[in-house]
Formats: sequence, structure tokens, C-alpha cells
Amino acid sequence: MNVFNEALHLNSIINKKLSIGLVPTMGSLHKGHLSLIKKALVENDQVIVTIFVNPTQFDSSEDVENYPRNLHQDISMINSISSKILIYTPQSSEIFDSLVKSSSYDFGKLEKIMEGKHRPGHFQGVATVVEKLLSLFKPTKAYFGEKDFQQLLIIKSLVSQKKILTSIIGCSILRDTCGLALSSRNQLLTNDEFKNASFMFQQLTLAKSLWNENSISDIIKTIEKSFIKNKYFKLHYFDIRFNNNLQKVEYKSEKKARAFIAAKIGKVRLIDNLLLNEF
Ligand code: PAJ
Repeated sequence: MNVFNEALHLNSIINKKLSIGLVPTMGSLHKGHLSLIKKALVENDQVIVTIFVNPTQFDSSEDVENYPRNLHQDISMINSISSKILIYTPQSSEIFDSLVKSSSYDFGKLEKIMEGKHRPGHFQGVATVVEKLLSLFKPTKAYFGEKDFQQLLIIKSLVSQKKILTSIIGCSILRDTCGLALSSRNQLLTNDEFKNASFMFQQLTLAKSLWNENSISDIIKTIEKSFIKNKYFKLHYFDIRFNNNLQKVEYKSEKKARAFIAAKIGKVRLIDNLLLNEF
């Protein structure tokens, strides 16, 4: 059996002399998660996938309860890739000591914008669980999706601040055929919402097509206007920011610029992003 709920047991079968790839997830796996796992398998001798719905990164206890959970299906999806993959499904008590609460980090401006601004405390919760997982297994590499681009930069900042030796590997976004970024939250959409959810990606590709001929402020106004006309979505933000530090882009240059979008459809909040000046 390759499923462990105690880090001690898992660590006892890991060969510390060989490379370890870690893929942290909250389960309800889809092809996006699987693409991270497959990359980890190619680049490492041993792969650990962690499945833990981390309560400290959610906005409310209702959100934690509503988060989809499919452990049996997750395990069979992972095993269908390779039965050698090690799966860690901890109890809360292994991750947190006596109190289920976040540690305290300083990520500066990086956590005062976009997701950090809309979801206070979210990145403190993410960093707490990721730091714990990195310290439990000391992986050679850990894999994170660009779907959560701000989270990826927060984790890069975490490992640099804490001098953690793991390399953080960013992985490209997997989308379904209509462009919608794969997400565990997509399961919570009604059929009607699901059919309309690709609007998010359409707006990102529209922004990209406007990039050469339009000013940044005109692109932002165009996208904001399309959201006003769309009856399904409530836009939380549409921003154009530098890829490396997430500062706002005021004027176009050679530096990589990325568009970020967050919007609510029904009860579900979706996020997505796209590099604008790479063709
Ligand atoms: P979760 O939402 O389960 O995502 C796990 C990893 O899969 C993240 O790195 C995320 O960016 C990546 N991912 C999700 N959808 C993807 C897609 N469509 N294409 C590529 N990668 C995708 O992110 C978390 O969990 C948590 O915050 C976690 C890091 C596990 C800490 O609790």
C-alpha cells in the first residue's frame, strides 16, 4: 500500500540518497494536478503526492466544508499513473501542533494584492502548510501550478526567506477544450454555469489580442466593460502585472506582463491568468 497518514512511516521507506519530488495538493484531483505529478515523475527518483484540505487557507469554515473531497478516486487516479508514487494524507494533528492556526510570515507587497487582498490570511495559511510539508520530507524539488501564480511566487519567497534547499518548479496551466482552467472548484458549477465559465479565458485571450495596439488602461477598461455585460460573472479584479514581482504594469516594455483575473460565478470563485506578451 502506498498511502500513508504518518510522515514517520513514509520517511522510513524513502531513500534519502535519491531525489524526491513533492506535489502538494488538496485532493479532488484532475488532469491539472496529474500534469504536475507526471513532471515530478520524470524529474525525480521518488515522488510524494500530498492530499490535505488545509483549513487555515480558506475564507470561512463553510468553504472548507464545501470543498470537494474524493480520496478514493484520487488514490486510483494516482495509481493509474504509477503505483510507485507515495501518497501522504495526514490528519490535521500531524500538520498543526495543538492549535490549527497559521504561522506568521512577511511577504511584503506580494500578499497585499489580488488574492491576498481579497482573501486576507489565505497566503499565511498556504505558507504554513507548505513549509511544514517541505520540512517533513525535504524534497529535492516541489511542484506548483501557474494556475495559482501568486501562490507560486509566495512559495518562492518562502523558501528563499527560510533558506529551504528545495527547488520550486512552476508548471503551466492545464485547460479543458473550451479554455476553462481545470480546477477542483469546477465540480461545484451547475451545468449552465459550467457552459458559461470559459468566458474567463475568453477575456484573457481578448486582452492578449489587444496587447499590441492598445494602452494598458484601455485593455483593462475593455475587459471590465465585458464583465459588466455578462450576467453570470461578478468580476473581483482584472489586473496586468509583471511576471517576476507582480507589480502593476503601467507602460508596455520588453518585460513579461501577465493578466490576472478573479471572478465569481454563482457561488464559485474562479481565478485564471495568461502571459500577454509571449506569442
Ligand atoms: P490545489 O488547489 O489542490 O492545487 C494543487 C496544485 O495543483 C497547485 O500547485 C495548483 O496551482 C496546481 N493546479 C491546480 N489546477 C491546475 C491546472 N489547471 N493546471 C496546472 N496546475 C494546476 O494549491 C493548492 O492545492 C494548495 O494551496 C496547496 C499548495 C496544496 C497548499 O495547501
